[in-house]
Amino acid sequence: MSNSQHDPPDQKRRAWGSAPAKLILFGEHAVVYDQPAIAVPMPSLKARAVAVTGRRGGGVILHAETIGRHYLMDAVGESEPLAFTCRNVLRWLGIERQPDVDLHLMSDIPIASGLGSGAATAAAIARALARWLGYEFSPAQLSALVYRTEQLHHGTPSGIDNTVVAFEQPIWFRRHAPLETLPIGARLCLVVADSGESSPTRITVGEVRRQWQREPAQYEALFAAVGDVVQRARAALAAGDGATLGALMNENQQLLEAMGVSAPTNERLAEVARRAGALGAKLSGGGRGGNNVALVARGDAERVAEALRQAGARQLFVTEVG
Ligand code: PMV
Repeated sequence: MSNSQHDPPDQKRRAWGSAPAKLILFGEHAVVYDQPAIAVPMPSLKARAVAVTGRRGGGVILHAETIGRHYLMDAVGESEPLAFTCRNVLRWLGIERQPDVDLHLMSDIPIASGLGSGAATAAAIARALARWLGYEFSPAQLSALVYRTEQLHHGTPSGIDNTVVAFEQPIWFRRHAPLETLPIGARLCLVVADSGESSPTRITVGEVRRQWQREPAQYEALFAAVGDVVQRARAALAAGDGATLGALMNENQQLLEAMGVSAPTNERLAEVARRAGALGAKLSGGGRGGNNVALVARGDAERVAEALRQAGARQLFVTEVG
């Protein structure tokens, strides 16, 4: 922590914070209805923030460097997520007088595409601001704080994104249940393909809710079937059984299609990945575009990524878990 009372008075204090992207391997959407889900951090993609002592009387100034936006925390309304997060940090720490601090945010995580960019940017900026103020959030505190920002983005988030980005570990997540970190029996190699079509999670989550209200029995059966896939995936993960995990990803994808959250692009990219040798593939996150994930044997990652690139995937990330 660089926020030391012993810093020379003329030296600007600096404090950093970062948080990884996240990937849902199993259980998106059904998790909103209290089914379990499995998610992992992607440490190769990060949001980073640095807090630097600002001009006297300048207040909190936000610099979203990746999109070239610079603004005063007080100049934007309650629905601007970064300013909202900073206000919550100050409230949480009981700080009434606004500090003079510049917060610079940089992020490699594609926006609105199912990789938890909203949660990671909020977590990075909250960590940096709190550290600059001399306070270290525990992962549980940070997760609770970022959950409030997630509510702005999603309306009724399950809490999975804020949990993974704050704890930075593979998790077994179930709403209203204690968090469990997951043992993984063998390293998993994942190819993540950004379809280039982005649809806000709030929209797909809202549509699933309306469908569930219209046809509760059918949707509850789908959620329960996803829950069953997630339970089986947990055992396959612990055993390091890639073939079973791949088959379970395909099964989860079919259930997401039945829920109406998969776009033709998700289905096409999943099929391309399987044909190129992936053990299984599905959409990941909110769906209707966004990201797909494919499980591959290590030696096949390049071939699967190339096939997906040729099929039109906008960005590709290869990541290992476990
Ligand atoms: O779009 P993402 O990656 O933020 O994932 C959302 C996951 C959902 O299950 C669809 C919603 C939620 O709040 O869990």
